[in-house]
Amino acid sequence: MKKYLVIGNPIDHSLSPELHNYWIKKNKIDAIYEKKKINNEDLKKLILEIREKKIAGVNVTVPFKQQIIPLIDKLSNEAKITQSVNTIYYKNNEIVGHNTDIDGFELGIKEAKYNVNNKNIFILGAGGVVSSIIYALEKMKASKIIVCNRTKNKAENLKKLFKNITVVDWGHIPDFDMIINATSVGLKEEDRIKLDFSEMHRNKFFYDVIYNPKETNFLKIGHELNCKTENGKKMFVFQALAAFKVWHNVEPEVNEEIYKLLDQ
Ligand code: ATR
Repeated sequence: MKKYLVIGNPIDHSLSPELHNYWIKKNKIDAIYEKKKINNEDLKKLILEIREKKIAGVNVTVPFKQQIIPLIDKLSNEAKITQSVNTIYYKNNEIVGHNTDIDGFELGIKEAKYNVNNKNIFILGAGGVVSSIIYALEKMKASKIIVCNRTKNKAENLKKLFKNITVVDWGHIPDFDMIINATSVGLKEEDRIKLDFSEMHRNKFFYDVIYNPKETNFLKIGHELNCKTENGKKMFVFQALAAFKVWHNVEPEVNEEIYKLLDQ
């Protein structure tokens, strides 16, 4: 039986095992997917276990998406451009790091029936997932991407990867069509982003990468302003789907049962 893992710290909140094990069972694959909380110093051992074929594939989450890169033999184009790895597999005696967050974001937005083409996008945060979001938005032909982060130099650093983005100070709200919360603020139900949206106009799209809780205070603001809102659940499902395809060479089905499974 092949073994797959999601690694991170913290990892308790991850619903990846529920999703992957559902698809594994549905497609009658002889495999199991588990979650594992690890520390920095465990990364080398994990890579060794992949080489020894004790582990067939790994999903990587916060805070290891960048940290794992020096230990990997080969990066896919997507992982190289974004400097972010969320899916690892072993092929031709090489450990390959890939990024399926890009596909996850793009397909999730398409499922939400929003057209990014020619839109101004405002991103809050500059953490692990933001380079994937920027790359996907550029692919989808957004006209302008503005990033702001509490710690400004982390947003400035993203300019090394994406020279066309604009960075603004935390607290400044520029004109935009779509706003994305990519910070970790909202993971706790009571979390509030300390920004003043009172001058904001309607007809914006509020998107939160967080999917648990289902409606963060950030999405509640969008809701109250009668704006379209969307949480990160579809992105989560589609990044998992892309990883599943890479590992098992099977396109799993996305249905209502899956979305219910994730409503915990
Ligand atoms: P990492 O920063 O290690 O990649 P992450 O969970 O991917 O971790 O990113 C957390 C993001 O949420 C960061 O953009 C962080 O901003 P800082 O770079 O300033 O830390 C943001 N964040 C976390 N708590 C926040 C808060 N209370 N207000 C605003 N932004 C916050």
